[in-house]
Amino acid sequence: MNKINQLLEHLNISQVFIAGQIPTDMISFCEENPEKVSGIGLIGTTEIYSSPFKSHGHRTIIISSNKGITHSAASNLKSDIPEVRNLELKDYEILPWTDIALDRASELVEGLTTFFLGLNCNETTIHKATSEGKIDDIYYTIKGVGPPLVLLPFMLSAAQWDPVIEELSKSFTVIVASGPSLGFIPTLEGRASLPTYKSMFSTLLSFMEVPNNGKLLELGCGTGALCRQAIKLRPDLAVTGADINKYLLNGAYQLAEIEDIKVNTYFNCPNISKDEYAGPGEFNITFSDATKMPFPDNFFDAVYSVTVLEECDANRALKEIYRVVKPGGSIGVVVRAIDMPQWLDLSVDDELWRKIIIPPQLISPSGVADKSLYSRVARANFKNLVMFPYLFSATRKADPKIYDWYLRRVYQPLIDMEKAELDAAKNQASEEDGLIYSQPLHCCVGWK
Ligand SMILES: C[S@@+](CC[C@H](N)C(=O)[O-])C[C@H]1O[C@@H](n2cnc3c(N)ncnc32)[C@H](O)[C@@H]1O
Repeated sequence: MNKINQLLEHLNISQVFIAGQIPTDMISFCEENPEKVSGIGLIGTTEIYSSPFKSHGHRTIIISSNKGITHSAASNLKSDIPEVRNLELKDYEILPWTDIALDRASELVEGLTTFFLGLNCNETTIHKATSEGKIDDIYYTIKGVGPPLVLLPFMLSAAQWDPVIEELSKSFTVIVASGPSLGFIPTLEGRASLPTYKSMFSTLLSFMEVPNNGKLLELGCGTGALCRQAIKLRPDLAVTGADINKYLLNGAYQLAEIEDIKVNTYFNCPNISKDEYAGPGEFNITFSDATKMPFPDNFFDAVYSVTVLEECDANRALKEIYRVVKPGGSIGVVVRAIDMPQWLDLSVDDELWRKIIIPPQLISPSGVADKSLYSRVARANFKNLVMFPYLFSATRKADPKIYDWYLRRVYQPLIDMEKAELDAAKNQASEEDGLIYSQPLHCCVGWK
């Protein structure tokens, strides 16, 4: 049984409105339980194929930007299913980490409320004694009155749905669903489990030469996948994961517990100064902004950050990293490389390289995703730099889930295809041509 249906059966609900950013979170529910779907909201969706939504056309609203990838995704869906309603947020670039519910709260609430309340729902309200709970690996909270509205996680938005829950709960019984199998968690976990991603990380860590029993920080740890790998590679270290996204940090907590790792959480701690902060092999999870961390100066023996500095103010984050690492301590920084294809001259005309798909990259205005990383690290005062550009890859046979996710995002023309066509194209691409998905990275290690 799909996760959403499992949740509805558990809550004894026969029909719901459902909204989220990532179509794969709701596709099996929409396909397998169409009678339970009163309305669908796709918010800031960056990749989508239309067939699961065909029978729900007039019940579906897609809220997008009027430019960029969410605009293309909405246009593709609408040209395939003209009955779909499209609400465009003007002059607002939506990237995977954009806080839509924070930045455009009133348009989001009004758009969803007006659209959903114009549709029928069998359930007028639900009565549940508990306001939070768990079924299988799905966690939920319930708030409000009115027909049920299930909210699924945004991709990397730190605010998630929080800024609009109060308003939405005036018209709906809002059920916020989360857990390790929803949202962006499976994607981050899938990527971190790729053999080439793992070897990038173990190379980074070995270059960093972290001293025995040292304190290691991952800035922008997301689901904590790399922190858990660090603990396995170096059980003598006390590992801290810091991130600005509480939803992902909760996922990090749940996933570490599954692996029996001792976890300490510091979610509401403006200043952390304890010397004994954590024991060897333990995992500290800390809420923190990269540009203003709650740690004292010279606190960690080593700090690393992997695919984070594209999203925030890179120079300010490097300054903060410099502040919290001890003199003589090491750092490792990895970012996606939008310049690598040109740099390596991976021309699409070249027969050999044509089999590798290098995706277009998204980057914030003050983020870094090119070889200027190396000079920025030098300018932040780190010495003896080790620089190693890297390609990590996913093959369909070995890693079907993560490969499909990346391929759909990369290959816009495939997005419109029916599922069967899409599968056929991917099979042909990966099996006959040996096509692989590859992501270039710039990696840099340095010392304070
Ligand atoms: C693509 S994920 C990478 C997660 C992890 N490093 C990995 O490789 O699996 C980027 C992470 O950076 C975090 N992030 C973005 N901006 C941040 C900021 N200003 N402060 C702290 N974390 C931030 C996001 O919340 C997200 O978890």
